[in-house]
Amino acid sequence: MRSRSLVCLSGAIAIAASGTVTLSGHDVTTKVTWNREISRIVYARCAQCHQPGSSAFSLLTFQDANPWAQAIRDSVLRRTMPPWGAVKGFGTFRNEQALSQEELGLVENWVNGGAPEGNPNDLPPSARIAAVPPETSTAAALIARDRFTFAGAFVLDGFRVDHAGKIESAQIAVAFPDGRVTPLVWLHDYSASTAHVFLLRRPLAIAPGAELRGIPAGAALELLAAAPTKPRR
Ligand code: HEC
Repeated sequence: MRSRSLVCLSGAIAIAASGTVTLSGHDVTTKVTWNREISRIVYARCAQCHQPGSSAFSLLTFQDANPWAQAIRDSVLRRTMPPWGAVKGFGTFRNEQALSQEELGLVENWVNGGAPEGNPNDLPPSARIAAVPPETSTAAALIARDRFTFAGAFVLDGFRVDHAGKIESAQIAVAFPDGRVTPLVWLHDYSASTAHVFLLRRPLAIAPGAELRGIPAGAALELLAAAPTKPRR
């Protein structure tokens, strides 16, 4: 098959050129390709950081990504990439960048199947790199440390974590005066080097007297207030 051997050839060249030993292009056993599925996932989920001039090495092209194929698979399956620094499902966030199960499956399938480049006609016309999810314009309204008590009512839209190093594990929750406890975030391997804002899926109305529990020593949460809803005329 002519197209198949071309794929093998380009795989071999990428290996030779990078000097890195990766899966051999000769063992292609998958229909999933860089040009069709994987480039789109990378543009949407990774390229905001993994492009020339950004915070990490480029993964924009097949030539860039191929030597990293196994590391890409391992990091997405371990969920260390994209870096989020919190346990999924403990609190829900509208700017979470985690890969879906389907995307994880495609990446695994691609790498295990020999990480082929595929047909150039399948490549998206231009690298459509997802913009960084919009952050709110709200400035930090409150800084919370230790065990923090809300003096007045507050509508929480999100927060930033202020900490110089790495937070291994910290479960932070809001304890309401009526006894209810709402999980806010479970920071896990949270690193200041990939700090980002956490934006709640839905703003959380907090009553006066509620407590923020679980903020680790040495850390602070900058609490962002939800934009006030405009009064109707
Ligand atoms: C918010 C920014 C950001 C996003 C989004 C991101 N990364 Fe990274 N990534 C980094 C940084 C920073 C590093 C460390 C860079 C370095 O050491 O040069 C890194 C390192 C890596 C590494 C090397 C880690 C290792 O185990 O050696 C891989 C592989 C990787 N990223 C893959 C991905 C993939 C795949 C995605 C998308 C699914 C992704 N990254 C999304 C910032 C990001």
